[in-house]
Amino acid sequence: MASEQEIEDAGQLLRDGGIVAMPTETVYGLAAHALDADAVAKVFAAKARPSFDPLIVHVPDADTAWSLVAIDQLHDGLHGLPEVLTQAFWPGPLTMVLPKREFIPGIVTSGLQTVGVRVPAHPVAQQLLEAAGVPLAAPSANTFGGISPTRAEHVTVECDAVLDGGPCETGVESTVVGFDADASASGVVVLRLGGTSVEAIEAVVGGAVAVAKPGEKIASPGMLDRHYAPRTPLRLVDRIEDLDPASLGNQRVGLLSLRGEQGRGMGFAAAEVLSPSADLVVAAAQLFEAMHRLDRAGLDLIVAQRVPDRGLGRAINDRLRRAATA
Ligand code: TXA
Ligand code: MG
Repeated sequence: MASEQEIEDAGQLLRDGGIVAMPTETVYGLAAHALDADAVAKVFAAKARPSFDPLIVHVPDADTAWSLVAIDQLHDGLHGLPEVLTQAFWPGPLTMVLPKREFIPGIVTSGLQTVGVRVPAHPVAQQLLEAAGVPLAAPSANTFGGISPTRAEHVTVECDAVLDGGPCETGVESTVVGFDADASASGVVVLRLGGTSVEAIEAVVGGAVAVAKPGEKIASPGMLDRHYAPRTPLRLVDRIEDLDPASLGNQRVGLLSLRGEQGRGMGFAAAEVLSPSADLVVAAAQLFEAMHRLDRAGLDLIVAQRVPDRGLGRAINDRLRRAATA
């Protein structure tokens, strides 16, 4: 675990324009001073990330978030929503896309007039934000398109420091929401499924939210189809039982599934079970770690079985589908 001194030093590095890998409750992020365009450019370079994919700005509290955005530019009926969501979900795995203030550099938002803001819940992220004293732009700390890191050891991008905060509790990225009065009854649109479930958001806003469909249009510029991918090819199936063993030939095949039961006796070279009790919150926390392990197991193919499509299961299925898109 990162010491107080390490966190202080990292805060100084960030103020000076360096880049630091930081733990959050979702995944590890690669942070830079959000108002320093040169520092943010280093993050894009380290990740080999295309410049059309905007970054999330991390802040210590809602008041700091409000200082970066212009809520009054939202459609009249939507003004109250960000506050309601903040009360319910911050600090935590929810990112809100809101009209940005002028002074946020275009490189952070890929030229968009909106910015994604979030208050992370991880204590080391909170301490780092305090030590840095500046908002931190941070994408996940993987190389572009790769599996997101959920442990300090997974961070392989080049940076000035890596802060260890242990394994990430949530394990999938934050849910990204935008606001559009015409898109849904509540005015909330989920741009990326993630650690805050659609059901939880609907309960709080008291109405249906829309979920931007993959492929329909790139609602969130980062929602490229192939993403979160291991190097090993991954095939996604509804039921392991339906898999024709002959279609696998002599390959070394690994299984990724929620409970592991169905794959028994089918000759898989490796198996990762996300949650024996089928708890989707636990499964989300294990997902990327299991993908990292399978990716290092010298397999020819990973077969993954879809999980129930509710709660955090929706975010898990979304990540699996992207990993399977070759
Ligand atoms: O949990 C998380 O969100 C992690 C941790 C580090 O906070 N961060 C993360 O960042 O996942 P990244 O860069 O891997 O994904 C950010 C997502 C992308 O899909 C991006 O397109 C979307 O947020 N996004 C950011 N700003 C946006 C904006 N202004 N409009 C629409 N989408 C935006
Ligand atoms: Mg990412």
